[in-house]
Amino acid sequence: MASQWANSNLKRSSGAMPRGLLMLSLYIAATNARNNESPTLHVVAPVHAAITNASIEVMLNCFLAQTSRDWALTVVGDGYDARAAAVVGRYTDPRINYAATDRAYGDHGHTPRELGLGLGESPWTVLTGVDNYYVPLFVETVVEKIRANPNAGLVYYDFLLDMKGELAAGAAYDAALRAYGDAPAEEDPEAVVVRPLLDGRVAEIRFRRGDDVAAVARDFVAAEGLNSGGGCDDAACVADLLAGHMASEAARPPGSGGAIGGGRPRALPPYSGHIDATLDESGRLDVGAVAVRTDVARRVGFGWRHHAADFSYVRAVLEELARVGLEALKLPQTLYVHN
Ligand SMILES: *[C@@H]1O[C@H](CO)[C@@H](O)[C@H](O)[C@H]1NC(C)=O
Repeated sequence: MASQWANSNLKRSSGAMPRGLLMLSLYIAATNARNNESPTLHVVAPVHAAITNASIEVMLNCFLAQTSRDWALTVVGDGYDARAAAVVGRYTDPRINYAATDRAYGDHGHTPRELGLGLGESPWTVLTGVDNYYVPLFVETVVEKIRANPNAGLVYYDFLLDMKGELAAGAAYDAALRAYGDAPAEEDPEAVVVRPLLDGRVAEIRFRRGDDVAAVARDFVAAEGLNSGGGCDDAACVADLLAGHMASEAARPPGSGGAIGGGRPRALPPYSGHIDATLDESGRLDVGAVAVRTDVARRVGFGWRHHAADFSYVRAVLEELARVGLEALKLPQTLYVHN
Protein backbone atom coordinates (compact mmCIF):
# COMPACT_ATOMS: atom_id res chain seq x y z
CA MET A 1 0.00 0.00 0.00
CA ALA A 2 2.65 2.47 1.07
CA SER A 3 4.63 2.25 -2.15
CA GLN A 4 1.49 2.75 -4.16
CA TRP A 5 0.90 6.02 -2.32
CA ALA A 6 4.52 7.02 -2.65
CA ASN A 7 4.08 7.37 -6.38
CA SER A 8 1.03 9.54 -6.07
CA ASN A 9 0.91 12.92 -7.61
CA LEU A 10 2.16 15.00 -4.72
CA LYS A 11 2.82 18.52 -5.75
CA ARG A 12 4.00 21.13 -3.37
CA SER A 13 6.15 24.18 -3.39
CA SER A 14 9.51 23.77 -1.74
CA GLY A 15 8.99 26.75 0.53
CA ALA A 16 5.65 25.86 2.07
CA MET A 17 6.68 23.29 4.67
CA PRO A 18 9.26 23.49 7.40
CA ARG A 19 12.04 20.96 7.02
CA GLY A 20 11.55 17.85 9.09
CA LEU A 21 7.79 18.00 9.05
CA LEU A 22 7.24 14.71 7.30
CA MET A 23 4.00 14.27 5.45
CA LEU A 24 2.60 11.13 3.95
CA SER A 25 2.34 11.29 0.21
CA LEU A 26 -1.32 10.54 0.17
CA TYR A 27 -2.33 13.07 -2.39
CA ILE A 28 -4.55 11.14 -4.75
CA ALA A 29 -5.12 12.18 -8.35
CA ALA A 30 -3.85 15.33 -9.92
CA THR A 31 -6.16 18.28 -10.10
CA ASN A 32 -7.46 18.48 -13.65
CA ALA A 33 -4.71 16.15 -14.75
CA ARG A 34 -6.43 15.47 -18.04
CA ASN A 35 -6.27 18.93 -19.52
CA ASN A 36 -3.21 19.88 -17.51
CA GLU A 37 -4.79 23.11 -16.38
CA SER A 38 -5.27 23.86 -12.70
CA PRO A 39 -8.55 25.29 -11.54
CA THR A 40 -8.38 28.83 -10.17
CA LEU A 41 -9.39 28.01 -6.59
CA HIS A 42 -7.92 25.28 -4.38
CA VAL A 43 -9.96 24.68 -1.23
CA VAL A 44 -8.21 22.95 1.69
CA ALA A 45 -10.45 21.38 4.34
CA PRO A 46 -8.82 19.71 7.36
CA VAL A 47 -10.61 16.73 8.88
CA HIS A 48 -10.15 14.82 12.13
CA ALA A 49 -11.67 11.73 13.71
CA ALA A 50 -14.56 13.55 15.42
CA ILE A 51 -15.89 15.01 12.14
CA THR A 52 -18.85 12.95 10.94
CA ASN A 53 -19.27 11.41 7.51
CA ALA A 54 -22.24 13.72 7.00
CA SER A 55 -20.14 16.85 7.63
CA ILE A 56 -17.56 15.74 5.10
CA GLU A 57 -20.31 14.95 2.60
CA VAL A 58 -21.96 18.35 3.08
CA MET A 59 -18.65 20.01 2.25
CA LEU A 60 -18.02 17.87 -0.83
CA ASN A 61 -21.60 18.14 -2.07
CA CYS A 62 -21.61 21.91 -1.76
CA PHE A 63 -18.68 22.01 -4.17
CA LEU A 64 -20.33 19.61 -6.59
CA ALA A 65 -23.29 22.01 -6.48
CA GLN A 66 -21.20 25.03 -7.51
CA THR A 67 -22.24 26.94 -10.63
CA SER A 68 -18.58 27.05 -11.70
CA ARG A 69 -16.24 24.08 -12.12
CA ASP A 70 -13.17 26.25 -11.54
CA TRP A 71 -12.18 24.66 -8.21
CA ALA A 72 -10.27 21.78 -6.65
CA LEU A 73 -10.83 20.53 -3.11
CA THR A 74 -8.44 18.63 -0.87
CA VAL A 75 -9.66 17.11 2.39
CA VAL A 76 -6.59 16.82 4.61
CA GLY A 77 -6.65 14.33 7.48
CA ASP A 78 -4.95 15.13 10.76
CA GLY A 79 -3.19 11.80 10.47
CA TYR A 80 -4.36 9.18 7.99
CA ASP A 81 -7.93 8.12 8.68
CA ALA A 82 -9.26 5.22 6.59
CA ARG A 83 -12.84 6.20 7.39
CA ALA A 84 -12.49 9.78 6.12
CA ALA A 85 -10.44 8.57 3.14
CA ALA A 86 -13.26 6.15 2.30
CA VAL A 87 -15.89 8.89 2.51
CA VAL A 88 -13.85 11.14 0.21
CA GLY A 89 -13.00 8.15 -2.00
CA ARG A 90 -16.68 7.61 -2.78
CA TYR A 91 -16.51 10.83 -4.81
CA THR A 92 -15.05 10.08 -8.21
CA ASP A 93 -14.72 13.69 -9.36
CA PRO A 94 -10.99 14.16 -10.03
CA ARG A 95 -11.09 17.62 -8.50
CA ILE A 96 -11.74 16.07 -5.07
CA ASN A 97 -8.67 14.68 -3.31
CA TYR A 98 -7.68 13.29 0.05
CA ALA A 99 -4.33 13.91 1.73
CA ALA A 100 -3.12 13.32 5.29
CA THR A 101 -0.37 14.43 7.62
CA ASP A 102 2.00 11.71 8.83
CA ARG A 103 0.36 11.65 12.27
CA ALA A 104 -2.32 13.44 14.26
CA TYR A 105 -1.10 16.85 15.42
CA GLY A 106 -4.26 17.86 17.29
CA ASP A 107 -3.71 21.55 16.57
CA HIS A 108 -7.12 22.76 15.32
CA GLY A 109 -6.35 21.57 11.78
CA HIS A 110 -3.41 23.93 11.41
CA THR A 111 -0.81 21.33 10.37
CA PRO A 112 -3.25 19.86 7.80
CA ARG A 113 -3.83 23.41 6.51
CA GLU A 114 -0.10 23.89 6.17
CA LEU A 115 0.17 20.63 4.21
CA GLY A 116 -2.80 21.54 2.00
CA LEU A 117 -1.40 24.98 1.24
CA GLY A 118 1.58 23.31 -0.42
CA LEU A 119 -0.52 20.96 -2.58
CA GLY A 120 -1.81 21.51 -6.07
CA GLU A 121 -1.08 24.21 -8.60
CA SER A 122 -4.09 26.47 -8.35
CA PRO A 123 -3.24 30.17 -8.34
CA TRP A 124 -5.62 30.86 -5.43
CA THR A 125 -6.17 29.02 -2.12
CA VAL A 126 -8.90 28.95 0.51
CA LEU A 127 -7.97 27.33 3.83
CA THR A 128 -11.22 26.34 5.49
CA GLY A 129 -12.75 23.69 7.76
CA VAL A 130 -14.49 20.54 6.60
CA ASP A 131 -17.58 21.18 8.74
CA ASN A 132 -18.28 24.37 6.79
CA TYR A 133 -20.05 24.84 3.50
CA TYR A 134 -20.30 27.34 0.67
CA VAL A 135 -23.23 28.66 -1.34
CA PRO A 136 -23.44 27.47 -5.00
CA LEU A 137 -22.32 30.87 -6.35
CA PHE A 138 -19.20 30.93 -4.18
CA VAL A 139 -16.61 29.82 -6.76
CA GLU A 140 -18.20 31.75 -9.62
CA THR A 141 -18.39 34.97 -7.58
CA VAL A 142 -14.86 34.79 -6.18
CA VAL A 143 -13.29 33.83 -9.51
CA GLU A 144 -15.16 36.66 -11.25
CA LYS A 145 -13.75 39.13 -8.69
CA ILE A 146 -10.24 37.73 -9.18
CA ARG A 147 -10.48 37.95 -12.97
CA ALA A 148 -11.79 41.52 -12.85
CA ASN A 149 -9.02 42.63 -10.50
CA PRO A 150 -5.57 41.48 -11.61
CA ASN A 151 -4.10 43.43 -8.71
CA ALA A 152 -6.00 41.42 -6.09
CA GLY A 153 -3.99 39.31 -3.66
CA LEU A 154 -6.81 38.51 -1.24
CA VAL A 155 -10.59 38.38 -1.61
CA TYR A 156 -12.87 38.06 1.40
CA TYR A 157 -16.60 37.80 1.88
CA ASP A 158 -19.33 37.72 4.52
CA PHE A 159 -20.48 34.52 6.14
CA LEU A 160 -23.11 32.98 8.39
CA LEU A 161 -22.59 31.06 11.59
CA ASP A 162 -24.48 27.81 11.91
CA MET A 163 -23.63 25.99 15.09
CA LYS A 164 -25.23 22.75 13.84
CA GLY A 165 -26.90 21.59 17.02
CA GLU A 166 -24.29 23.17 19.22
CA LEU A 167 -26.29 26.36 19.29
CA ALA A 168 -26.90 26.40 23.02
CA ALA A 169 -23.33 25.50 23.80
CA GLY A 170 -22.06 28.06 21.33
CA ALA A 171 -24.30 30.80 22.70
CA ALA A 172 -23.15 30.13 26.26
CA TYR A 173 -19.55 30.15 25.11
CA ASP A 174 -19.94 33.41 23.28
CA ALA A 175 -21.93 35.14 26.00
CA ALA A 176 -19.28 34.18 28.53
CA LEU A 177 -16.42 35.40 26.42
CA ARG A 178 -18.30 38.56 25.51
CA ALA A 179 -19.02 39.34 29.14
CA TYR A 180 -15.43 38.58 29.97
CA GLY A 181 -14.07 40.78 27.21
CA ASP A 182 -16.48 43.67 27.74
CA ALA A 183 -16.54 43.84 31.53
CA PRO A 184 -14.42 46.39 33.34
CA ALA A 185 -11.38 44.65 34.81
CA GLU A 186 -12.47 45.31 38.41
CA GLU A 187 -15.64 43.24 37.94
CA ASP A 188 -13.52 40.17 37.37
CA PRO A 189 -16.24 38.04 35.83
CA GLU A 190 -15.99 34.34 35.47
CA ALA A 191 -15.74 33.10 31.91
CA VAL A 192 -16.95 29.70 30.78
CA VAL A 193 -15.58 28.02 27.69
CA VAL A 194 -17.77 25.20 26.45
CA ARG A 195 -16.04 22.21 24.95
CA PRO A 196 -18.00 19.45 23.19
CA LEU A 197 -16.57 16.04 24.10
CA LEU A 198 -16.22 13.01 21.87
CA ASP A 199 -18.78 11.08 23.89
CA GLY A 200 -21.44 13.70 23.14
CA ARG A 201 -21.30 15.48 26.49
CA VAL A 202 -20.49 19.16 26.67
CA ALA A 203 -17.92 20.17 29.26
CA GLU A 204 -17.49 23.63 30.74
CA ILE A 205 -14.11 25.12 31.39
CA ARG A 206 -14.41 27.91 33.96
CA PHE A 207 -11.82 30.55 34.58
CA ARG A 208 -11.59 34.05 35.98
CA ARG A 209 -9.61 37.04 34.88
CA GLY A 210 -6.12 36.66 36.23
CA ASP A 211 -6.32 32.87 36.50
CA ASP A 212 -3.32 30.87 35.46
CA VAL A 213 -4.77 29.64 32.17
CA ALA A 214 -2.30 26.78 31.88
CA ALA A 215 -3.34 25.52 35.32
CA VAL A 216 -7.03 25.76 34.44
CA ALA A 217 -6.35 23.77 31.30
CA ARG A 218 -4.35 21.14 33.19
CA ASP A 219 -7.18 20.73 35.69
CA PHE A 220 -9.68 20.39 32.86
CA VAL A 221 -7.68 17.69 31.11
CA ALA A 222 -7.13 15.90 34.42
CA ALA A 223 -10.87 15.93 35.11
CA GLU A 224 -12.04 14.95 31.63
CA GLY A 225 -9.23 12.67 30.59
CA LEU A 226 -7.63 13.03 27.21
CA ASN A 227 -10.94 12.99 25.46
CA SER A 228 -11.76 16.55 24.61
CA GLY A 229 -12.58 15.81 20.98
CA GLY A 230 -11.47 17.74 17.97
CA GLY A 231 -7.94 16.53 18.44
CA CYS A 232 -7.43 18.98 21.30
CA ASP A 233 -6.43 16.30 23.76
CA ASP A 234 -3.71 17.62 26.00
CA ALA A 235 -3.28 20.42 28.46
CA ALA A 236 -1.17 22.49 26.11
CA CYS A 237 -3.85 22.42 23.45
CA VAL A 238 -6.66 23.23 25.86
CA ALA A 239 -4.60 26.07 27.33
CA ASP A 240 -4.05 27.29 23.79
CA LEU A 241 -7.78 27.19 23.17
CA LEU A 242 -8.41 29.36 26.20
CA ALA A 243 -5.52 31.67 25.57
CA GLY A 244 -6.44 32.12 21.94
CA HIS A 245 -9.65 33.72 23.03
CA MET A 246 -8.19 35.68 25.89
CA ALA A 247 -4.88 37.01 24.85
CA SER A 248 -3.74 39.16 22.02
CA GLU A 249 -1.64 36.93 19.83
CA ALA A 250 -0.12 39.94 18.09
CA ALA A 251 3.33 39.30 19.48
CA ARG A 252 3.45 35.63 18.60
CA PRO A 253 5.77 34.83 15.75
CA PRO A 254 4.95 31.95 13.39
CA GLY A 255 5.64 28.58 14.93
CA SER A 256 5.73 29.90 18.46
CA GLY A 257 2.75 27.79 19.45
CA GLY A 258 0.33 29.00 22.05
CA ALA A 259 1.95 31.47 24.35
CA ILE A 260 -0.16 31.80 27.47
CA GLY A 261 -1.20 35.03 29.12
CA GLY A 262 0.42 38.37 28.66
CA GLY A 263 -2.16 39.85 26.34
CA ARG A 264 -5.41 41.63 27.06
CA PRO A 265 -8.72 39.89 26.49
CA ARG A 266 -10.42 41.29 23.44
CA ALA A 267 -14.08 42.07 23.29
CA LEU A 268 -15.82 39.71 20.93
CA PRO A 269 -18.75 40.82 18.80
CA PRO A 270 -21.96 38.78 18.76
CA TYR A 271 -20.99 35.41 17.35
CA SER A 272 -24.15 34.34 15.62
CA GLY A 273 -26.07 34.98 12.45
CA HIS A 274 -24.74 37.04 9.59
CA ILE A 275 -21.13 38.14 9.93
CA ASP A 276 -20.00 41.27 8.16
CA ALA A 277 -16.47 40.03 7.62
CA THR A 278 -13.50 42.21 8.48
CA LEU A 279 -9.78 41.61 8.31
CA ASP A 280 -9.00 43.01 11.74
CA GLU A 281 -9.14 41.43 15.17
CA SER A 282 -12.74 42.32 15.93
CA GLY A 283 -13.57 38.64 15.71
CA ARG A 284 -15.43 38.95 12.40
CA LEU A 285 -12.76 37.12 10.52
CA ASP A 286 -12.65 33.46 9.65
CA VAL A 287 -9.98 31.87 7.54
CA GLY A 288 -12.66 30.12 5.45
CA ALA A 289 -13.97 33.52 4.39
CA VAL A 290 -10.69 34.51 2.78
CA ALA A 291 -9.21 33.49 -0.60
CA VAL A 292 -5.51 34.28 -1.03
CA ARG A 293 -3.24 34.21 -4.03
CA THR A 294 -1.34 30.93 -3.60
CA ASP A 295 2.11 32.40 -4.22
CA VAL A 296 1.54 35.00 -1.51
CA ALA A 297 0.06 32.43 0.88
CA ARG A 298 3.01 30.08 0.38
CA ARG A 299 5.55 32.81 1.02
CA VAL A 300 3.74 33.57 4.26
CA GLY A 301 3.14 29.89 5.11
CA PHE A 302 0.73 28.59 7.72
CA GLY A 303 3.17 28.16 10.56
CA TRP A 304 1.06 29.16 13.54
CA ARG A 305 -0.38 26.56 15.87
CA HIS A 306 -2.37 28.56 18.42
CA HIS A 307 -6.14 28.81 18.38
CA ALA A 308 -6.13 32.23 16.71
CA ALA A 309 -3.77 31.21 13.90
CA ASP A 310 -6.36 32.53 11.41
CA PHE A 311 -5.70 36.07 12.55
CA SER A 312 -1.95 35.65 12.40
CA TYR A 313 -2.14 34.14 8.90
CA VAL A 314 -4.35 36.91 7.52
CA ARG A 315 -2.25 39.60 9.17
CA ALA A 316 0.91 38.15 7.66
CA VAL A 317 -0.79 37.89 4.26
CA LEU A 318 -1.83 41.56 4.46
CA GLU A 319 1.75 42.56 5.29
CA GLU A 320 3.01 40.57 2.31
CA LEU A 321 0.37 42.15 0.04
CA ALA A 322 1.47 45.61 1.14
CA ARG A 323 5.08 44.67 0.46
CA VAL A 324 4.40 43.49 -3.09
CA GLY A 325 1.71 46.06 -3.90
CA LEU A 326 -1.36 43.81 -4.13
CA GLU A 327 -4.84 44.57 -2.84
CA ALA A 328 -7.28 42.97 -0.40
CA LEU A 329 -10.80 43.21 -1.81
CA LYS A 330 -14.12 42.70 -0.07
CA LEU A 331 -17.01 40.97 -1.79
CA PRO A 332 -20.16 42.34 -0.15
CA GLN A 333 -21.89 38.95 -0.42
CA THR A 334 -22.55 36.14 2.00
CA LEU A 335 -20.90 33.14 0.41
CA TYR A 336 -20.02 30.83 3.26
CA VAL A 337 -21.54 29.11 6.27
CA HIS A 338 -19.20 28.57 9.18
CA ASN A 339 -19.89 26.05 11.93
C1 LIG B 1 -18.76 6.47 7.61
O1 LIG B 1 -18.13 6.05 6.42
C2 LIG B 1 -17.34 4.89 6.59
C3 LIG B 1 -16.55 4.67 5.31
O2 LIG B 1 -17.37 4.49 4.22
C4 LIG B 1 -18.24 3.72 6.97
O3 LIG B 1 -17.47 2.57 7.17
C5 LIG B 1 -18.99 4.07 8.24
O4 LIG B 1 -19.92 3.05 8.53
C6 LIG B 1 -19.71 5.40 8.08
N1 LIG B 1 -20.28 5.78 9.36
C7 LIG B 1 -21.54 6.12 9.47
C8 LIG B 1 -21.98 6.51 10.85
O5 LIG B 1 -22.31 6.15 8.53
